[in-house]
Amino acid sequence: MRRLIVAITGASGTCYGVRALEMLREMGGFETHLVISPAGLRTAAEEGIGYDADQIKALADVCHSHKDIGASIASGSFKSDGMLVAPCSVKTLSGIAHCYSNDLITRAADVCLKERRRVVLMVRETPLHAGHIALMDQATRSGAIIMPPVPGFYTQPKTIDDLINQTVGRALDLFDIDHPSVRRWKKGEAS
Ligand SMILES: Cc1cc2nc3c(=O)[nH]c(=O)nc-3n(C[C@H](O)[C@H](O)[C@H](O)COP(=O)(O)O)c2cc1C
Repeated sequence: MRRLIVAITGASGTCYGVRALEMLREMGGFETHLVISPAGLRTAAEEGIGYDADQIKALADVCHSHKDIGASIASGSFKSDGMLVAPCSVKTLSGIAHCYSNDLITRAADVCLKERRRVVLMVRETPLHAGHIALMDQATRSGAIIMPPVPGFYTQPKTIDDLINQTVGRALDLFDIDHPSVRRWKKGEAS
């Protein structure tokens, strides 16, 4: 059984974190640990993604309070494949870049980085000022992978769902998790 930590923070695109949980559940063989920030819950409600807080939490095997800095995932002794922050707000990016572990999301990310585990941050803000770019640089230097949810159109998406699946599937690729919905480039055709 592989384990993945998924965090949903208050940037636009809470559907990405939800879809990641759905894909992992569909595939089976994963124990998912979810943390949602209060701003993540607020943003999910504002975005009208069709899932309330309880429905989102039910998609994970274990749901931790963002305040519980004593949770299993706050310790390096908890083994996992790493952590996906989808979406990642600039505030959470800043916390991770500065090792400011004042909640479970930033603490779990810091722990994964110190243990040299994969941390993928789907940072979402636009446009960006120099401070945002500096934070992404700092997080990258600490070992995180910055993966803004920027869709590619070469796969000829027909629906918003296609865009979400492709973006989340490519994020899961970074953990060596191969979801069948990912469309892969083949020269001369939309695969
Ligand atoms: C509807 C809505 C959309 C937001 N979109 C973004 C965004 O795309 N990127 C961002 O960095 N912050 C965004 N914010 C602001 C964050 O939610 C806010 O900075 C919050 O403090 C982040 O906290 P967290 O990182 O603990 O989730 C948004 C807030 C709301 C209510």
